[in-house]
Amino acid sequence: MKENSIWLDTVKLKEFESLNSDLNVDVLVIGGGITGLLCAYELKNRGYDCVVVEKDRIASKTTKDTTAFITAQHETLYQNLLEEKGFKKAKEYLNINLKALKKYKELSLKYDIDYQECKSILFDMDDTYIIRKEKSTLDILGYPTMIVTDCPLNLDFNEGVAFENQATINPLKLVKSLSEELDIYEQTSIMKIKKNYCLTNRGNKIYYNNLVIATHYPIYNKKGFYFMKLTQRRSYCVGVEIDKQNNDYFNDTYCGINDDSLYFRTYKDYLIIGGNDRDNKEICLNSFKERIEKSIINDEIKYNWSGQDCISLDGIPYIGRHNIFDKNIYVATGFNLWGFTWAMASSFIIADMIEKNVACELTDPRRIVINKQLLSNVINSVKHILKFKKPRCKHMGCALIYNKIEHTWECPCHGSRYDSSGEVLDGPSQKNLNI
Ligand code: FES
Repeated sequence: MKENSIWLDTVKLKEFESLNSDLNVDVLVIGGGITGLLCAYELKNRGYDCVVVEKDRIASKTTKDTTAFITAQHETLYQNLLEEKGFKKAKEYLNINLKALKKYKELSLKYDIDYQECKSILFDMDDTYIIRKEKSTLDILGYPTMIVTDCPLNLDFNEGVAFENQATINPLKLVKSLSEELDIYEQTSIMKIKKNYCLTNRGNKIYYNNLVIATHYPIYNKKGFYFMKLTQRRSYCVGVEIDKQNNDYFNDTYCGINDDSLYFRTYKDYLIIGGNDRDNKEICLNSFKERIEKSIINDEIKYNWSGQDCISLDGIPYIGRHNIFDKNIYVATGFNLWGFTWAMASSFIIADMIEKNVACELTDPRRIVINKQLLSNVINSVKHILKFKKPRCKHMGCALIYNKIEHTWECPCHGSRYDSSGEVLDGPSQKNLNI
């Protein structure tokens, strides 16, 4: 069994040189994951001189760990949006995501990304009420959906609501295609962000007119209070080889809405199952791989991996101007569990802002959200900052917790992770621990 995502065995990505001189660009994009690459690609196509810098290798973090569901169906968010923000905002959310889907389809005509059109099915194992409510919400929004009652896996499947014409792709095939058309510098970290230039780890200056921070958790997170308005959610995946002759092979994607639900799709000869989602405040209590082996499948698990998503306060991402002071700094983060769809949406939202000065009010990172989640984030951070315990996180000094199952040090405040020797695995922390 391999302890990495299935995608890494399907593509060999090109390696890029690090930056060793000063530069002057229209747009500097920090972060070589799918969001940064799609933003740079869109801006380049609109005529901007654009450079991407990545502190490690492109797609070496969250992007390689995704399941790459491309869908406008985001759990049961539409019923919440309609109730809390009204028809116009709910419809706008839907339309942005449908536009992102359309753009993926366009890219699939240009590049081989294993694009597969499918139904996206949201299911409930206990009840039908929330599923039916989501369907009627989509009816109000004028989007056709259907109810399904069958599930290809042996689960307690009650009922699901399906969106047709959604998609799956191979995420790294897309990264490969995009990266070959872009100016990228790898192993180039940004140490300081100033008004019109960034300073790299080798002391070079990159002068910019516009800066896009696409580093998953923003590296520049104190201004803009991202440390209060983002949490992280960890999710686990396995890949199992399936025998197409003896199994009911399926193309659709499935996502459960109950606590401890699973989500799954297929890719070529593999079934990919995800689940065991947990907030960065929660301790990892069991192995997802063992759970799947015991209860769902008899076949051997070939791939075992995990990833992390940034969660916003109100279920809507933060895409737009980074803070109220810096007019030329943009951010894209807080995609919740729908990273690939929102990565594409970020590309046209930010490009429209830079090119036409048209802002997207729905995703404006500067919006004020005061809710229970904000209060919980603040209380949690204060609690762990005040704990008298070592080691301490290099981001804002919270006491770390050792995860015995994954052998990692984890920060319950904002989700930084370190391996057992202290090396940073996930931000916002940028510095290793001294253990
Ligand atoms: Fe913020 Fe640890 S203190 S991630």
